[in-house]
Amino acid sequence: MAHKILILNGPNLNMLSEREPEIYGSDTLESIGVACQHKGQTLGMMVDFRQSNEEGELVGWIQSAAKDFSGIVLNAGAYSHTSIAILDALRAASLPTIEVHLSNIYRRESFRHHSYISQAALGVICGLGTQGYLLALDALARIVDED
Ligand code: DQA
Repeated sequence: MAHKILILNGPNLNMLSEREPEIYGSDTLESIGVACQHKGQTLGMMVDFRQSNEEGELVGWIQSAAKDFSGIVLNAGAYSHTSIAILDALRAASLPTIEVHLSNIYRRESFRHHSYISQAALGVICGLGTQGYLLALDALARIVDED
């Protein structure tokens, strides 16, 4: 059976293309989702691509991921820098997780330099825009195949 990968996007990522395009680029979240679906097909994986502005909803999705999914790609947006709840949910789910940021958070304000998510992530990709999501899927395809 094909592996299923859950791709989660946090707050304000629904605003992509309108929101600070000089930082986040001109791709819409929908177009990133389409690119991820195509990438998943080429890798023989099913991709479920979601976004929420609410921390609790993201926590709930991570909690229920363990039974259905083989891995997670997570761009938690600003919650990356604040959410112990999301970190705890990732630890509880115990799925291979790749953290993604469109922007290079280390070239930006110092409050973006720390991510709680990183403590539960196998790897972190930042600064490569949409490509970061696709690279994360490549990485997870290898990781779940090795398991
Ligand atoms: C982001 C970086 C975060 O600092 C910011 O709050 C976001 C988007 C990124 O993809 O570059 O909302 O996660």
